[in-house]
Amino acid sequence: MKLMNFLTLLCVSLLPSFAVSAILFQGFNWASSNKGGWYNSLKNSIPDLANAGITHVWLPPPSQSAASGPQGYLPGRLYDLDASKYGSKDELNSLIVALHEKGIKAVADIVINHRTAEKQDGRGIWCIFEGGTPDGRLDWGPHFICKNDTAYSDGTGNLDSGGDFSDAPDIDHLNPQVQKELSEWMNWLKTEIGFDGWRFDFVLGYAASITKIYMEQTKPEFAVGENWAPFSNGNDNKPNPNQDAHRGAIADWIQAAGGAVTAFDFTTKGILQAAVEGELWRLKDSNGNPPGLIGIKPENSVTFIDNHDTWSQKTWPFPSDKVMLGYVYILTHPGTPTIFYDHFFEWGLKDELSKWIAIRSRNGINSKSTVNILASEADLYMARIDDKLIMKIGPKLDLGNLVPPNFQVVASGQDYAAWEKK
Ligand SMILES: *[C@@H]1O[C@H](CO)[C@@H](O)[C@H](O)[C@H]1NC(C)=O
Repeated sequence: MKLMNFLTLLCVSLLPSFAVSAILFQGFNWASSNKGGWYNSLKNSIPDLANAGITHVWLPPPSQSAASGPQGYLPGRLYDLDASKYGSKDELNSLIVALHEKGIKAVADIVINHRTAEKQDGRGIWCIFEGGTPDGRLDWGPHFICKNDTAYSDGTGNLDSGGDFSDAPDIDHLNPQVQKELSEWMNWLKTEIGFDGWRFDFVLGYAASITKIYMEQTKPEFAVGENWAPFSNGNDNKPNPNQDAHRGAIADWIQAAGGAVTAFDFTTKGILQAAVEGELWRLKDSNGNPPGLIGIKPENSVTFIDNHDTWSQKTWPFPSDKVMLGYVYILTHPGTPTIFYDHFFEWGLKDELSKWIAIRSRNGINSKSTVNILASEADLYMARIDDKLIMKIGPKLDLGNLVPPNFQVVASGQDYAAWEKK
């Protein structure tokens, strides 16, 4: 191979750095912190995850969190992993070692936009932070809170570079000391605890340029941001068909964050869950491509059906009787698909989901696969992926001559099917 070609290939393969054929698994839901011993129970599930072909497991926020936020999204003492409701630091460590033994990577939920204070100052304001180490790492005061944080008006840092979080002080990420100390903490999660990558919580809470800094200073093998903005027109259950602005904003964020980070494809989720209710025509954009983020930036898209927020807290949930249609779509399409704990273990879909992951893998479908949409009608969506697989969702039975004679059916269920080349 010519050196230039080799170098070009090398550069192309550097962004993003994780395998294009990854499958993410969300290893918890909103109730998991109440169950006691979550890390240990998840450890018992590793054989099932490995057999299914899961490559990455997203774990809950690992640090001590306020009593009102046992799920971990109100973290305070970031280095204190023993006060987590999911289990101890040693149990977390042992879970990650067991995941690694099966070749599965561990993704930490990084909640850094805001932080809960450990103590009040002399005026009775909660603004004294403690990191949870004897040597005072991450011990901060009001200077680290954004000065226009409306709920915590004692902040003396810079103006917030993003949106406000009302339940805890918003941390001033423009402060170089914050950037340095949080990067050190994340690198400690890598070297000391074994984490491989990040799921950045509420990235709209600070500027994309800040995510870029954390990406550069921690070099995760995989990272995904929760860039969750509601649809701006129509309503959430019946969004306007054209969501180019919605997905464009996520794509712009990825670019501004340096291009190596991926983002949850909230656009696909919202359109797909409306489409499966007899409006499958929604699944084609004006250029003939998928209408979500996967239609413009597939290699940086992480697709999903539901998560700890949407399903567990009934915020914008996917129609429960159509969940397999959603999975058939994301598991046959580009992007990096996510499987949710509940669907896999609690809904009895383990075997069915494993089958579709196998179909994806057998046909080499990956985050950059090509989609050729064959039909997008109210009751039928059909696409040919990489010229290897044909899939359909929707109740329509008469497919005309859309399936060529050299294709045979390899899987089917209620209103869905796939065909492979003979
Ligand atoms: C803080 O100021 C920034 C910059 O003007 C602004 O974007 C942000 O919305 C403000 N936040 C609050 C909570 O007022």
